[in-house]
Amino acid sequence: MPERSVPPADARMDPADEELERLEIELLLEAVYRRYGFDFREYAPASLKRRLWRRMYAEGLETVTQLHDRLLHDPASMERLLLDLSINVTSMFRDPSFYMAFREHVVPTLHTYPFTRVWCAGCSTGEEVYSLAILLKEEGLYDRARIYATDINEQVLSAAREGVFPLERMKQYTQNYIRAGGKGEFSEYYVAAYEGARFSRSLTENVVFAQHNLASDRAFNEFNVIVCRNVLIYFDKTLQTRVHELFYESLDTFGVLALGHKESVAFTPYAEQYEVIQAAERIYKKIG
Ligand SMILES: C[S@@+](CC[C@H](N)C(=O)[O-])C[C@H]1O[C@@H](n2cnc3c(N)ncnc32)[C@H](O)[C@@H]1O
Repeated sequence: MPERSVPPADARMDPADEELERLEIELLLEAVYRRYGFDFREYAPASLKRRLWRRMYAEGLETVTQLHDRLLHDPASMERLLLDLSINVTSMFRDPSFYMAFREHVVPTLHTYPFTRVWCAGCSTGEEVYSLAILLKEEGLYDRARIYATDINEQVLSAAREGVFPLERMKQYTQNYIRAGGKGEFSEYYVAAYEGARFSRSLTENVVFAQHNLASDRAFNEFNVIVCRNVLIYFDKTLQTRVHELFYESLDTFGVLALGHKESVAFTPYAEQYEVIQAAERIYKKIG
């Protein structure tokens, strides 16, 4: 394949070059899929391209084809790309209004169940999982709940298992916690240690962390609640539809799908199968 210099991000490309680059990216994604099983073939193209370029420059390379070659032969470079592509930004009690809505509109139903199975899909480094565990504890539900926390990326999952978060973020997290309707003292859930704020082991007693790829893995349980926030935005329409199918199949009847304000089931083939429980935070109940 011919080698070609990649222009700066803001440069306008010749249509023929653009076409060629699209082909290079397609081939790279196919190679990544076949070599490592990570399927990014249906990720939204613009942000994918930006991240591939960033990785290419960080590796000191000049073309997508060189990156393709590096990825095939150097698994460590794949790990680095995975971190770039999987955009792990997260925080505790992120969008506090989501947790407020969850307390108000989901918790009362969960009280009527003998046991609650929650799937937190795309959990990143775990801040969302610890937040949900705290919420369930404060609502008296944690002891009869299990949270399955999954992500495509093994590196973020091992951080999640550790449960140590930067001390300098605790001020913000405390404010989030209060705005999320927290009922206790946030500082009681962690101890300040040398390496950061170490969260209580009791918060992960009923948590199972596991690698799961929403793009290619199948359903693995029947859930009462699925929380998946700030993940689907990175997928194109086809992949979003596949993930909605997966969520639909994985939910019990009357199960809750909580997507957060950035995503929605509207305009998906599953729109009719859900009833809106809380519109702003896109919390739904499976009815169909
Ligand atoms: C922006 S974080 C969201 C974290 C958390 N849900 C939140 O809202 O704060 C997106 C996460 O989705 C994960 N992810 C991306 N593609 C995935 C896939 N195909 N399967 C599972 N997780 C994926 C990334 O690794 C990343 O940790």
